[in-house]
Amino acid sequence: MSVDWLELEKKARAWIYEAAGLVKQSLANPIHIETKSNANDLVTEVDRAIESFFYQKIQAEFPTHYFFGEEGIAEELDSLTGTVWIIDPIDGTMNFIHQKYNFAISVGIYHEGLGMVGLIYDVMNDELFHAVRDHGAYINNEALVPVKERPLHESIIGLNAKWLIEEGNPYKNPLMALVRDVRSIRSYGSAAIEIAYVAADRLDGYISVNLSPWDYAAGIVLLDEVGCKASTFRGDPLDFLTASPVIVGKPQLHKEMVSSYVGEEL
Ligand code: IPD
Ligand code: CA
Ligand code: CA
Repeated sequence: MSVDWLELEKKARAWIYEAAGLVKQSLANPIHIETKSNANDLVTEVDRAIESFFYQKIQAEFPTHYFFGEEGIAEELDSLTGTVWIIDPIDGTMNFIHQKYNFAISVGIYHEGLGMVGLIYDVMNDELFHAVRDHGAYINNEALVPVKERPLHESIIGLNAKWLIEEGNPYKNPLMALVRDVRSIRSYGSAAIEIAYVAADRLDGYISVNLSPWDYAAGIVLLDEVGCKASTFRGDPLDFLTASPVIVGKPQLHKEMVSSYVGEEL
């Protein structure tokens, strides 16, 4: 049975707006915070409630679709066979907790491993970035144009400066050289928003030493539509099932950042 991806995008968009309403309501009450892998890896009951919200909607409406989310509401997947929703219920949880701002709901829909629909909703800024494969990328329904290149020394890169001082980070030196050579760096605290910003030409590239599929799945669909590239630091394709270093950017810049900085065998 063939799927109407434009229709599916509309459905996902409606659910995102509904979920965003729930997130905003939650901000009126004290938020219960827990830690996960380390003291700065935070999660709240809102992250879990929003992931459940999507899981239930998808189960009820599309029982044959698979679900892959950060908070483990559904079983982990080991393949991208069929139609898979890859969801980060709140990307930028630290911002959500500390700032009540600069966080996003990220929904990527993949079919047989191919990104078909990507939605990133910056809840408090009311900015929805969306793309459907071969139908372009948009910000609040305004079409994004194919990105224009800038030379590396005039580029602004999204990067968390913590990676530059992280003990045992094998990419420390290449990243320091890159930071020295680009015009500047920015750090917004939400990988999904930062990848959407590359697609929207607000950043020229974005780099993280460790991202999970739900952080970038939706963003990659946007990037594809505007001609940007995404890969591991070695330039290999992302696998959408495991965490890895991720580098995204305008095509020439991406190539240069991989070949002259982070792509070297360590
Ligand atoms: C995090 C954010 C952050 C990035 C981390 C992610 P979360 O996602 O995207 O910007 O640097 O690697 O884990 O935990 O807020 O969903
Ligand atoms: Ca995330
Ligand atoms: Ca999250």
